[in-house]
Amino acid sequence: MKIFVTGGTGYIGSHTVVELQQSGYDVIIADNLVNSSIDVLDGIEKITGIRPEFEEIDLTDRVATRDFFIRHSDVKAVIHFAALKAVGESVHKPLEYYFNNLNSLMNVLDAMREFQVPNLVFSSSCTVYGQADVLPVTEKTPRHEAESPYGNTKVMSEDIIRDLMKVEPKMNALALRYFNPIGAHPTALIGELPNGVPNNLIPYLTQTAIGIREQLSVFGDDYNTPDGSPLRDYIDVVDLAKAHVVAIRRLLEGKNKANYEFFNIGTGKGLSVLEIIHAFERATGVKVNYKIVGRRAGDIEKVWADTTLANKELGWKAATPIEDTMRNAWKWQQSLKQ
Ligand code: NAD
Ligand code: WQD
Repeated sequence: MKIFVTGGTGYIGSHTVVELQQSGYDVIIADNLVNSSIDVLDGIEKITGIRPEFEEIDLTDRVATRDFFIRHSDVKAVIHFAALKAVGESVHKPLEYYFNNLNSLMNVLDAMREFQVPNLVFSSSCTVYGQADVLPVTEKTPRHEAESPYGNTKVMSEDIIRDLMKVEPKMNALALRYFNPIGAHPTALIGELPNGVPNNLIPYLTQTAIGIREQLSVFGDDYNTPDGSPLRDYIDVVDLAKAHVVAIRRLLEGKNKANYEFFNIGTGKGLSVLEIIHAFERATGVKVNYKIVGRRAGDIEKVWADTTLANKELGWKAATPIEDTMRNAWKWQQSLKQ
């Protein structure tokens, strides 16, 4: 059974490829390597013993995307990770984000329809909820006006998929709304490769711990949260990868209840920035040089998931303790220095 993984050399894609291979699926990746390296294939191969097929394709290229589907008529399902994901950058380059994230999705959907590849799993995000009034957020929580062009591409992508599924009853799509993915594979052979100075908490934290950055700025301790720093639902990347395997299986086995479904993928627990720092220090024995600074523009105060639906329908639950996730993130950071 062959699965087409777009963006499969990226952070979440590579971990998902490993879990798919370890569950017996064949994988073919297409990625234009704009935000990942071909060397990731070596890491995947070292973990699983199988080198996934790979093609360098820009999925905004309609002809190239169509040709891919013509050449690979054995593909039974698609997991679409390929996208640009830097929230701040998207504010400055809105057109690049809309162009890349929406055209790649539409090209993939159009080819799936034409060549009758019926099953899609799509990477959505908790960003579609913005700052919800009631926490935790369930799948019934209304989506919020997106705060960034990036976030808007996720809302729009979900709508494009939903609308297409209405008129393509033989196709099935499932969107996974990831909360904050963190960590790395326990082998430290694959992990997150931030571009330049990281914007996200964990890569900034591990780069500070190893001495690449002098100090981690904690963006605000005056929020309405127990310790004043913002709360997020940090989901281990391997747990997240496993959610894709169960999602794919659900579609391939025809167990889905509608031809468009969406699920929250998180731990169900909110952790503060300070709790994350302390979990890292506890897990690794390494002190983090940090300083409380002002709030970061655009940050929300708190969000965490109600994962009841994913637990019940997908039979999936986050399982990795935060300390293990932190140790894996640290092992990965250390492996990058060698
Ligand atoms: P990533 O940047 O590591 O991976 C994305 C991959 O897509 C990269 O390898 C990149 O080269 C590729 N890509 C981008 N545009 C492409 C194009 N036009 N054609 C072919 N390949 C292209 O990001 P990630 O963290 O692994 O995220 C994967 C998906 O999950 C994205 O859709 C992202 O928006 C979504 N997501 C990520 C997070 C997060 O915090 N990491 C949270 C929620 C949702
Ligand atoms: C986490 C917390 C910061 C860096 C982003 C996207 C979201 C989704 C996940 C894709 C916040 C604090 C951070 C630092 C800090 N991605 N922080 N110092 O902003 O929750 O979500 O990634 O869909 O759409 O917006 O993640 O890792 O940037 O921040 O104090 O140097 O860490 O204020 O509270 P965020 P993050």
